[in-house]
Amino acid sequence: MLVDDIIKKKELKDLNKEFVSNELREYLKRNKIEEIPNEKSAKYKKIVKDIRKKFREIYGVYKTRYSGDVAEFISSMRDFKSFKENSNEILKAHTSTLERRPYYEEIYSKLFDGETSIIDLGCGLNPFSIPCMPRIKKYFAADFNISEIHLLNDYFKIASKYYPGFEGFAEVIDLRKLEFKLPHMEMCFLFKILDVIEKKGHKHAERLIEKIPANKIIVSFPTKTLSQKKMNYPRRKWIELMAQRLGYKMESFEAKNEIFYTLKKPEF
Ligand SMILES: C[S@@+](CC[C@H](N)C(=O)[O-])C[C@H]1O[C@@H](n2cnc3c(N)ncnc32)[C@H](O)[C@@H]1O
Repeated sequence: MLVDDIIKKKELKDLNKEFVSNELREYLKRNKIEEIPNEKSAKYKKIVKDIRKKFREIYGVYKTRYSGDVAEFISSMRDFKSFKENSNEILKAHTSTLERRPYYEEIYSKLFDGETSIIDLGCGLNPFSIPCMPRIKKYFAADFNISEIHLLNDYFKIASKYYPGFEGFAEVIDLRKLEFKLPHMEMCFLFKILDVIEKKGHKHAERLIEKIPANKIIVSFPTKTLSQKKMNYPRRKWIELMAQRLGYKMESFEAKNEIFYTLKKPEF
C-alpha cells in the first residue's frame, strides 16, 4: 500500500498513518492524479519521493545522529540523578533541543517568573528539559508524533515522583486543524513550530495564538536556514505587527540560532 511504502524509511516509521493519508490525498488532488499508478512505475516512485520529502521537511530533518533509544533512557531513570542525566541525554535526539541544550537555563530564567504551568505545542522532545526549569506544577504537551506522546506520558509519571504535586500529560494534536481543546495554563510554548505548520501567510498562526488559553505565549523561530546559514533578517516582522494590532505586549530576545518572542494577551 502506498502509505506503507512512504513510511518504510527508518526516520519516518513513527509517523501517524492518518496524517500521511491526508497528505497523500491532498497531493493527489493537487497533482490531478485520479488513480494510484502501478507500484513499479516511475509515477508511483515520484509520489513516494515527494511525500517523503514533505515529511522530512516538517518532521524527519529534526532527528539528529544522536537519536539513542529514548524509551530505554526513560526506563532507566531510577533516581533523581539518573532522571536528570537521562533527560539531558534525550535532549540530544532532536536538532532543536540539541542546539538549545547549553542555553536552556538561561532561556528559562528569562521566561519563568516563579512557579508556573505550561502548554507546549509541537513539543517534540522539549518537555525533557523539565530539569532545567525553575519550579513547574503542570505541563500539557502536544505533538502529532504518537510515539513521542507515549514516551512523554511515561516520562511525566516519573517526573511527578521527583516534583511533588507535579502533573503532566501529553496528547496527539494536529496543529494544522483548530478543532482541539486546550487546558488553561499560565504559559504556552510554540517553539520552532509556526514555520512548520504554515508555509504561506500567517492567518492560521494568528488564529492558533488567539485560541490558546494562556496568559503568556512564547513563540520561537530559527535564526539559521535549513542549510545552516545565518539568516539576514532573523526577526519575524509579522509577529511584531500582529502583537501591535491585537494589543499584546511583546518582548523578544535571541539565544544561539533562535529568536524568542514573548506575547502577553491584554485580557489576562
Ligand atoms: C522543529 S520541531 C520543534 C520541536 C520543539 N517545539 C522544539 O523546539 O524543541 C517541530 C515539531 O513539530 C511537530 N509537528 C510538525 N507538524 C505538526 C502538526 N501539524 N501538528 C502538531 N505537531 C507538529 C513535529 O513532530 C516536531 O516535533
